[in-house]
Amino acid sequence: MADPLVLFMPSGKRGRFPAGTPVLEAARQLGVYVESVCGGRGICGRCQVEVQAGQFAKHGITSAADHLSPVGPKEQRYAEKRDLKPGRRLSCSATVEGDVVIDIPLDVQINAQIIRKAADTRVFERKPAVQLCYVEVEEPDMHKPLGDLDRLKDAIERDWGFSNILVDQHLFPQVQKILRQGEWAVTAAIHKDSDTGQPSLIALWPGLHNEAYGLACDIGSTTIALHLVSLLSGRVIASAGASNPQIRFGEDLMSRVSYVMMNPEGREAMTAAVRKAVDDLIGDVCGETGVHRNDILDAVFVGNPIMHHLFLGIDPTELGGAPFALAVSGAVHSWGGQLDLETNEGCRVYMIPCIAGHVGADAAAATLAEGPHRQDEMMLLVDVGTNAEIVLGNSERVVAASSPTGPAFEGAEISSGQRAAPGAIERVRIDPETLEPRFKIIGTELWSNEEGFARAATATGITGICGSGIIEVVAEMFLAGIISTDGVVDGSLAARSPRITATGRTFSYVLHDGDPLITVTQNDVRAIQLAKAALYAGIKLLMDKLGIDHVDRIRFAGAFGSFIDPKYAMVLGLIPDCELANVSAVGNAAGTGARMALVNRDYRREIEGTVRAIEKIETALEAKFQDHFVAAMALPNKIDPFPQLAN
Ligand code: FES
Repeated sequence: MADPLVLFMPSGKRGRFPAGTPVLEAARQLGVYVESVCGGRGICGRCQVEVQAGQFAKHGITSAADHLSPVGPKEQRYAEKRDLKPGRRLSCSATVEGDVVIDIPLDVQINAQIIRKAADTRVFERKPAVQLCYVEVEEPDMHKPLGDLDRLKDAIERDWGFSNILVDQHLFPQVQKILRQGEWAVTAAIHKDSDTGQPSLIALWPGLHNEAYGLACDIGSTTIALHLVSLLSGRVIASAGASNPQIRFGEDLMSRVSYVMMNPEGREAMTAAVRKAVDDLIGDVCGETGVHRNDILDAVFVGNPIMHHLFLGIDPTELGGAPFALAVSGAVHSWGGQLDLETNEGCRVYMIPCIAGHVGADAAAATLAEGPHRQDEMMLLVDVGTNAEIVLGNSERVVAASSPTGPAFEGAEISSGQRAAPGAIERVRIDPETLEPRFKIIGTELWSNEEGFARAATATGITGICGSGIIEVVAEMFLAGIISTDGVVDGSLAARSPRITATGRTFSYVLHDGDPLITVTQNDVRAIQLAKAALYAGIKLLMDKLGIDHVDRIRFAGAFGSFIDPKYAMVLGLIPDCELANVSAVGNAAGTGARMALVNRDYRREIEGTVRAIEKIETALEAKFQDHFVAAMALPNKIDPFPQLAN
């Protein structure tokens, strides 16, 4: 007779195991991650599973829940002390006795009270770099002069298989006290970054310690986003964001590099500012959840090259000009304390590698999250900021570049431009007959021509146009015939509509004729043309490299991408023609990639290998960039067709 079949949900991994195999062992053999802090002693409760009823026929499994061994003494003891919910079993104790479907409940891995609504609920398969290991250590013996720490290492090797363990310096003075406090039972945190890497003992607690957390953080030049993640469940339990305080030293990246060059203490001031902001965010997520900073054991950071360097305390001057040399491009390993973060003393920090001098660890992390290198379809991943970071490719080949889009897409260099904030115009429609506009501002759902808008807008006022608004208004001006393919505002329309006004020798479009007066000038249109031409030319260069004239999917990463309407991006020719249904915003993909690298160390190897293989294209050195740029100044493009726009 065949051995019993065990099917794990939700992963769907299955295998046959001899009767009597502990469920935990079956999970391990199939690569299903089930946490076990106490090493199967029946005291941590992290290994709980549920037997799924009602799915058996669907999976060709004919038996039911009683095909696990009866509840044993270990489980009984745990249930009496800690309350084991009905239907739950300890997988270290229950053994497989017949065909069975096993579910790994998400809530058991984490203290339910501290789960907060997190921005991203995707759960990734876990294989964290830090693991908690409960061990019972032999007591000292006059006849065996082995040190306390050495016996602890022996116990960890015996129960958990970690050999040649390095010990963090900060633990030496504490080890003896902790062992005695725990009456020779302790929980060790072991850091092992790769399958072949050397394990390190990074933290130690007396008795059973059941809490381990990590941080995933994207340091953007405008915003810093941080997630607190349970290393035992892989789930985000709290998220927080804040403005990057470096803004006071310079709005955009280049002005921050200039600040460093012009001010003797400039680098130090900006490093201190960003580290403090990150540490404050750690305080926020810990305060919200009740998690102790001392239980934060691992962290992954990403950022564009300049943010990456400043956070590490590296002078970014070299990144301010050709050849844009990074001080370090590969993955960086550090400690929380060395980066002025108040975490456990042994907390490790991992920084995802940078792709190139203008394409940073944030683009690498977004690549990890979206996975162009994992699929056959040709995917274009664009993160628009002062520089657009562009990654294009599929499982065969990936190329990357950055394009100097300038700050126009962020509302800068636009006469009425502003950052996205309450009161900013973010949506625009123009009637092609009357040329009358209607618009929406951030802070209300009403259109400007709807009843109640004026009242709703009094809270914020109408303050300017943000990045998504400027793209929509220029695209709508084009669709309404106010601007030509060359981007020239048609002055002859002034006879038809008071919205068209002369500004010196050029014409403007009046979007809001109240206080303040908000117009779109010829210069504004030019600024958007220049920005979009730079972006498109960069994308075209990458398409040339791959010898393709079509992309299958387009993903906008970052805040800007979340707010622009793909249709308008295509009307203006920011992006190449693509089926609109295949163009989408993916939000903070860089943060998601950081989280993946935090909860599963295999993702670190994946992105390190991918970054090494990515072909980096320096747009400034490519002769064809200029040709593509000139063609892309037209709306949507002088040469390239956009058949999807006709649909
Ligand atoms: Fe700790 Fe099962 S592994 S209770």
